[in-house]
Amino acid sequence: MNVPPELLAKIDEAITHYPVSKRSASLPLLHLWQEHFGFISDEAIAWIAQKLELQPINILELVTFYPMFRRHLAGQRHIRVCRTLSCAMAGSYGLRDKLAAAAGIDLQKWQEENAHHANAEHGNPIAVSADGQYSIEFVECLASCGSAPVAMVDDFFKENIKPGDAPKLLKLQRSDATLPKVRPPHRREKRIVFKNIDREGWTNDIECYLGEGGYEQLKKALQMKPEEIVEEVKKSGLRGRGGAGFPCGVKWSFIKRGGPKPTYLICNADESEPGTFKDRYILHQDPHQLLEGMIISCFAVDAHLAYIYIRGEFPEGAQILEKALAEARARNFLGKNILGSGFDLEIYVHRGGGAYICGEETGLIESLEGKRAYPRIKPPYFPAVLGLYQCPTIVNNVETLCDVKHILAMGGGAEYAKLGRPNNTGTRILCVSGDVKKPGYYEVEVGSVTLGELINDFCVGLREGRKLKAVIPGGSSAKVLKAGEKYKIKDKEVALEDIPMDFDTLAAAGSMAGSGGVIIMDDSRDMVQTLNNINEFYAHESCGQCTPCREGALWMKKITHRILEGGGTEKDPDVLKNVADNIAGKTICAFGEACAWPTQSFVLKFRDEFTARSKKETPPPMPPEYISEELIEHEKIETLHDKRTGSPLASAATK
Ligand SMILES: Cc1cc2nc3c(=O)[nH]c(=O)nc-3n(C[C@H](O)[C@H](O)[C@H](O)COP(=O)(O)O)c2cc1C
Ligand code: SF4
Ligand code: FES
Repeated sequence: MNVPPELLAKIDEAITHYPVSKRSASLPLLHLWQEHFGFISDEAIAWIAQKLELQPINILELVTFYPMFRRHLAGQRHIRVCRTLSCAMAGSYGLRDKLAAAAGIDLQKWQEENAHHANAEHGNPIAVSADGQYSIEFVECLASCGSAPVAMVDDFFKENIKPGDAPKLLKLQRSDATLPKVRPPHRREKRIVFKNIDREGWTNDIECYLGEGGYEQLKKALQMKPEEIVEEVKKSGLRGRGGAGFPCGVKWSFIKRGGPKPTYLICNADESEPGTFKDRYILHQDPHQLLEGMIISCFAVDAHLAYIYIRGEFPEGAQILEKALAEARARNFLGKNILGSGFDLEIYVHRGGGAYICGEETGLIESLEGKRAYPRIKPPYFPAVLGLYQCPTIVNNVETLCDVKHILAMGGGAEYAKLGRPNNTGTRILCVSGDVKKPGYYEVEVGSVTLGELINDFCVGLREGRKLKAVIPGGSSAKVLKAGEKYKIKDKEVALEDIPMDFDTLAAAGSMAGSGGVIIMDDSRDMVQTLNNINEFYAHESCGQCTPCREGALWMKKITHRILEGGGTEKDPDVLKNVADNIAGKTICAFGEACAWPTQSFVLKFRDEFTARSKKETPPPMPPEYISEELIEHEKIETLHDKRTGSPLASAATK
């Protein structure tokens, strides 16, 4: 096969980023190939396999797992529209249709004609215009939920899209994502990590960063003993901002120094939890803050090779990071003998392929090793013990790693711990989306703001004339909380609006702070539709390793879909709960809980709605963004009908 020299040069360069195992270069090579040729052909699979000294199946299994890789050409301009909850609530189903119409794609006809082909296709179905100029794909959360609805046109992000924007969107030549929008902080915000985000005059160049004291904390850190830094991070009480809230310093102290194996550090920049949109801002607008935090962290845990695992849908973010890394190398903040300290470090950017499960740290590690992102069983695969290439590995979220720099800047862990509340220290970025007047990000001291204050003060309240119905407080995996309910916290009855947004209180209220993604729903929202949207996400994203998760996530989606279609049965709410109960706690990774908790909590808290809907024989009117015929959905559930009366019998899901 004739591979053009410029592509070959990029491929050879990419392979050098993986000195331990060439196999790790599989995903980067697939991206390079697809960027050049538009799709992954059989020849590509054979060629890449040979180049990496693998079998073709090792590459084919990636192409069939990661939805971003295509086996056929898309249009010359490829448009990805987000279909997940916050975007669906803001009208992304209608937007997708308008974009298709503007691009000359008859979606319904395309679906009918391509039903078989699309089913056989891997990844998401892609509708292509007859002239091959445009293609449209419905994708999962693009980490911009606060500016919903959003779409990507080729590599460009477009946020807050209005229905009338469709024709001009097809010609988009610039991204919203890299443009700071000058957004002054709310008076009660405490901006530390987000100090420079959307700030007037701020750029992501190293000069700008250095002009504001950038890399000074690195210089300070290099004068300290690594163990001292770990101790300060421990003292700070910093809990991981990626979702689980595990204490960062404690995790770091699991690393055994001076062992026979090297230690690696990985920054988790996969940001895929629906409702969460903080890390992308840091990557796009303040990449040096992350790099400084990472370099200090690597020094502390004695890592000399580190990766930033960035989700595949952030191509601009990856480019910005590459530029920032080159700037940092040129000034010896990276590379050999950093600033004369004797400490060597190299950091590389690694792009994912569009699979949510790569955010789970052991799935991420498998993916970085060039395999399907199948999470590993813990124990024994706690990354700090057996991680990347079976070596001790620290995986931390983008925001967590940025915080490390600020712990030193404040003079140490004790100072940082003064922010927030006991066991819930520091600041964190709350990402608010859904039915509020001013959605967006707000960096606050942990627990300093109640949910009611967040909605009514920071976000300027609910939409006009609406009442609060429900809140998902920590990304779509968190259990839903219902307005009007009282929550028992430390022996006190607390209303939903009075719950402080910290790890421990939200856990006590039966949910979690998770990744900081707060999704607000007002009384116009139908909880069956909402749960169905969430269930579609999890059914799409299960890695398929464990039977309860693979089958259960799909069944939960089928059942909520059936209820929506008007074919639900009286037993459906119980069946839903039963399926969810048999997933949580019975799987390899916490995705099992992540997909079961929404169903368990929605059915428990909004049982009346589910019961009433399950008995309906015909679907009630739905808002346009939810009209089910408009879903890209090739798997139909058949409902048995009584031949004499025509009414639905017990359902029979046929596939
Ligand atoms: C299904 C699933 C998805 C996850 N997605 C992310 C993610 O996108 N970003 C992230 O930082 N952590 C994610 N996590 C959490 C990681 O597994 C891990 O706990 C985290 O990266 C550790 O960093 P931290 O301690 O700094 O939070 C996810 C976990 C699960 C179970
Ligand atoms: S719980 Fe789901 S996502 Fe996690 S390993 Fe099992 S099948 Fe994969
Ligand atoms: S960007 Fe669409 S739901 Fe998150």
